[in-house]
Amino acid sequence: MEPFLRALPKVELHLHIEGSLEPELMFALAERNGVALPYASVKEAKAAYDFDDLQGFLDLYYQGMSVLLHERDFFDLAMDYFRRASAEGVVHIDMHFDPQAHLQRGVALDIVMRGLLAAKEEAERSLDLSVGMIMAFLRDRPAEEALEVLELAKPYWQRLDAIGLDSAERDHPPTKFVALFARAKEIGLARVAHAGEEGPAAYISQALDDLDVCRIDHGVRCLEDEALIARLREQQTVLTVCPLSNVALKVVDDLRQHPLPRLLDEGLNITISSDDPAYFGGGLLTNHLACAEAFGWDEKVFEQLNRNALAEAFMDDARRAILL
Ligand code: ADE
Ligand code: ZN
Repeated sequence: MEPFLRALPKVELHLHIEGSLEPELMFALAERNGVALPYASVKEAKAAYDFDDLQGFLDLYYQGMSVLLHERDFFDLAMDYFRRASAEGVVHIDMHFDPQAHLQRGVALDIVMRGLLAAKEEAERSLDLSVGMIMAFLRDRPAEEALEVLELAKPYWQRLDAIGLDSAERDHPPTKFVALFARAKEIGLARVAHAGEEGPAAYISQALDDLDVCRIDHGVRCLEDEALIARLREQQTVLTVCPLSNVALKVVDDLRQHPLPRLLDEGLNITISSDDPAYFGGGLLTNHLACAEAFGWDEKVFEQLNRNALAEAFMDDARRAILL
C-alpha cells in the first residue's frame, strides 16, 4: 500500500502553515532571529507535543510562531513544508494562515503576505505544487478585530481564495462572525470554517446557515445530529477531516475508533488532511498510511477521497482538468 499511496497525487484542503513548523526549523529560526525558546532541544520540544485537548495544542502552536519575524521566515516556513509535501506526492495544498496571531506580536501583515505569496509562487514554479490561500480568523478574538484585519488586507484580496475560521472552538460559535463572513462574501471571497471539531454539531449548522461556507473543516461531530447528516449528504458539503489531528487532540481515543468509516458509509463528501503536521505526527502521506492501517481501506477509497478534494480545491479549472 505504501508505494501506491506515495505515488497517488494527493490534494490537501486543510493545512495550517504555522502548524507545519518543524522543531528543527523552529530552532534554526530562533537562532537566526535571536528568539529564546522554552525548550533546550528539538527532542525536548517534541516531548512537549503531548496534548490533552485543542487549547493545550493552541498554547504551544502560538508560542512556536514567536520565531517568525521576517518575510524570509514565512517564505522558509512554507517552502520547508511544500518541499516535503511535494516529495510525498502532494500536488495541491489549500493553506490556512493566521494573520492576527502575527499582528498581535507586532509582525506586519505585509511581512506575512509577502513571504507566503513568494513561497506559493516558488512552489508553483519549481515543484509543480499549486497553493490556495485561506486567510483564517481567530474565533477566540473579538469579531471587530477580524473585520479590521480583513479591511487591512485589502491590497491582497485579489490574492486570497477564501477566509477561514479557526482557533479555540468551544464557546465561540460561528454566529459571532456573521458580519465578517458577509463582508468576505461581498468582496467575492469563498468561505470555510472549522466546526464540529470540539464544538457541537449545532456549530456546523450555524456555519452553513449563518456564514454560508462552502466547506466544513473537521465536522466529525455532525454524527451527533441525524438531520444534519442528511443535509450534508444532500448538499454534498465537503468535510476536511484530519484523522491524526483528532487523535492527537483527543477528539477520539485512537484511530481505530475514528468515525471516518462511518462518515463514508453515510455517503458524505469526505476528504482527509493533516491540519498541523509538525505537531500531530506527520503530513498528508502519513495520514493516508495511518488510515490504511487502521481501516483497511483499499486503493479505491483513497482515490475517491482525493477526487473529492480535487473537485473542491481552490485551483484554476485548467489545472484541475490536468490533475483529473
Ligand atoms: N489552528 C491550528 N490548528 C487548529 C485546529 N486543529 N483547530 C482549530 N484551530 C486551529
Ligand atoms: Zn485546522
